[in-house]
Amino acid sequence: MARILVTGGAGYIGSHTVVELQTKGYDVVIVDNLSNSNIDVLNGIETITGIRPAFENIDCVDYVSMDRMFEKYNDIEAIIHFAASKAVGESVEKPLMYYRNNLVSLINLLQLMPIHKVKNIVFSSSCTVYGQPDILPVTENAPIKPALSPYGNTKQVGEEIIRDTIYANRSLQSIILRYFNPIGAHSSAEIGELPNGIPNNLLPFVTQTALGLRKQLMVFGNDYNTPDGSCIRDYIHVVDLAKAHVIAVQRMLNKQTKSDVETFNLGTGRGLSVLEIIKTFEEVNNVEVPYKIVARREGDIEKVWADPSYANNELGWTAVETLEETLRSAWAWELNYAQRVNAEQS
Ligand code: UD1
Repeated sequence: MARILVTGGAGYIGSHTVVELQTKGYDVVIVDNLSNSNIDVLNGIETITGIRPAFENIDCVDYVSMDRMFEKYNDIEAIIHFAASKAVGESVEKPLMYYRNNLVSLINLLQLMPIHKVKNIVFSSSCTVYGQPDILPVTENAPIKPALSPYGNTKQVGEEIIRDTIYANRSLQSIILRYFNPIGAHSSAEIGELPNGIPNNLLPFVTQTALGLRKQLMVFGNDYNTPDGSCIRDYIHVVDLAKAHVIAVQRMLNKQTKSDVETFNLGTGRGLSVLEIIKTFEEVNNVEVPYKIVARREGDIEKVWADPSYANNELGWTAVETLEETLRSAWAWELNYAQRVNAEQS
């Protein structure tokens, strides 16, 4: 079966997508520089699927190494491009690092694709491109608002780079996937979200606080214009999200796309507040998450959730996991990981 290049395949969404691809019979090669991931994830993927994916420790910014990689794996038929830096706050501190990592890597891929006869690329974009939408739920046709961070800008510009490149080279095609907030872990608890250092995102902070690794969770603001005052997001199970990538790849390989560049929202259509997430997490896992309300976090959007109906109808894909199951899976992964670390240390 076709080989798929998964950049950032050792990362959180990437590793779950590799599992789904291999389960469907695709061959995979992961390219990852392990800047925010761990090589051990390959063991998890192998335990779940019985297959250890090919792995290359390469930075996608390195054109020459990427060129060699494409020569080595000359059967790649599609790329899923996850590899990128994604911490909003860090991007404000280190804009050039973000522009280099996120844009040069994409440019390298788009330049190498025609040389190596690869036609298809799935791009990891984000609901961040909508900023604070005027109308909720947000559809793919909502206006793109000025980015609030260099990270957000790399996603907007990345989408434009893809559109311009494909306009000039009609032999290429792309599916742009705008993710809402992925959370949770594979049901085996073998892989999950494993940020290096202090987590920026909500769920790893919740699980690490429940475990006692962090004293308390800080809830960024309770004075927003929302029912309980905390921010609202569309939290989607990472496995649901991963499955959409397999469908996107199949759609391109089977020539079912309706245009050279297609864009889809990947969310559940359900908005949940930070406080609702904490409360449900505590209930379904029977564990306490100490938290305190602190000041708003700079750059946070008040509320955003998806209208996923275009993806539902066109891709035949729907997010099916319940919030309860998703939050259980996040906790199971954290516990399993903690056990593994303890076992290694003793
Ligand atoms: C943001 C971007 C998203 C991007 C992601 C990458 C928006 C709308 N979303 O997600 O596109 O891909 O960063 O990391 O810009 N929170 C707390 N305490 C914490 C952590 C988070 O209260 O310790 C709250 C935040 O204020 C927010 C919610 O939890 O309301 C989710 O935050 P987070 O997981 O960081 O994701 P986003 O900021 O939504």
